Amino acid sequence: MKALVYNGPYDVSVETVPDARIEQPNDALVRITTTNICGSDLHMYEGRSTVESGKILGHENMGIVEDTGPGVTRIKPGDRVSVPFNIACGSCRNCLDGWTAFCLRVNPTEGVDGAAYGYANMGPYDGGQAELLRVPHADFNLLELPQGREHENDFTMLSDIFPTGWHGTELAGQRAGDTVAVFGGGPVGLLAAHSAVLRGAARVFVVDKEADRLALAESIGATPVDFSAADPVEQILDATHGRGADCGVEAVGYQAHDPSGTEHPELVLDNLVKAVRTTGGIGVVGVYVPEDPEAADEGAKHGRIGFDYGTFFSKGQHMGTGQCPVLRYNRGLRDLIIAGRATPSFLVSHEMSLDDAPEGYRHFDKRDDGWTKVLLRPGS
Ligand SMILES: NC(=O)c1ccc[n+]([C@@H]2O[C@H](COP(=O)([O-])OP(=O)(O)OC[C@H]3O[C@@H](n4cnc5c(N)ncnc54)[C@H](O)[C@@H]3O)[C@@H](O)[C@H]2O)c1
Ligand SMILES: [Zn+2]
Ligand SMILES: [Zn+2]
Repeated sequence: MKALVYNGPYDVSVETVPDARIEQPNDALVRITTTNICGSDLHMYEGRSTVESGKILGHENMGIVEDTGPGVTRIKPGDRVSVPFNIACGSCRNCLDGWTAFCLRVNPTEGVDGAAYGYANMGPYDGGQAELLRVPHADFNLLELPQGREHENDFTMLSDIFPTGWHGTELAGQRAGDTVAVFGGGPVGLLAAHSAVLRGAARVFVVDKEADRLALAESIGATPVDFSAADPVEQILDATHGRGADCGVEAVGYQAHDPSGTEHPELVLDNLVKAVRTTGGIGVVGVYVPEDPEAADEGAKHGRIGFDYGTFFSKGQHMGTGQCPVLRYNRGLRDLIIAGRATPSFLVSHEMSLDDAPEGYRHFDKRDDGWTKVLLRPGS
């Protein structure tokens, strides 16, 4: 089969590799119809992770079930499915509690709970930027979709970024009528803003500096805040009579930067502590890592990021963090799409063949104008 392989920093290529296959009785084999490039893939692409060369990337996958192992009873060949980026066993303590992003069983890496497809540190699983994908514990993990091709570009957001955006608002404790500040206008931030609107926000701010992303935020009813024009905290305080937002979502991650492009991993956390009111919540879904060999300062190389914890404490705020347990939300979000209430496809900018994936990576990595979200179609 053809697959997108990581060779080294800024170097990915489409190669012919052995077909993915059923390895365990509970596996399913999925023929990929759509697989997306994610901001999380860029951390690896830029050499800011420990991913090994030769890894097939891709954790935002959907397709048609080609085959199932003898232990699979619910899922059948021919089913159209969304594949959550988390791989989970379904029966460990964390899975039973709904925290499938922290499954205790699926990742043999010492000290890491939780696994994912095609991702650094997340277990020995290949990704789905390929023609075929092996899905462990298929009955538990796979989400069934209506047959056909309808809503393909909406449903493809169910494997990661729509649930992740929703999770950001959940971790922030958003309530109906809240004013919500979302930092980061990438795909995750935009779908956090979409989620906030669906959850009844009175007002949503989206902070970024990319004009195309801010325009998309405005198109879904959010107020764009350009952090390269003026201090985003001042802009949010000015717009809320000095009170600040009721809650906030961090959708940027450890490569947060100032308008000149210089990285400050604590910058967005500090901004959120200032921009959210006393007792408000902050949901951090942007990724932070325990080891970042390329970080600018010694502490950050080992995950020690010095944000304004003193003010955070004094304001009585609370913070939730971590990878999204996709299974908690994806059924409901699928049904919002089917009902026509949610349309996460609004951010799709490019649909490409798998062969063109390296070009997609190049443009998306540079946040080139208009490159908001790239979908790959291995079948085309
Ligand atoms: N927790 C999870 O389960 C999960 C899932 C998917 C993605 N993620 C993470 O979410 C983050 C966002 O993902 P994405 O796909 O939207 O990535 P992205 O890189 O496309 O978007 C990040 C955006 O943040 C903006 N930004 C940079 N510095 C900023 C600042 N100081 N203030 C405001 N905005 C700033 C950038 O201009 C960019 O548009 C990444 O860290 C990704 O790894 C987490
Ligand atoms: Zn992703
Ligand atoms: Zn588990």
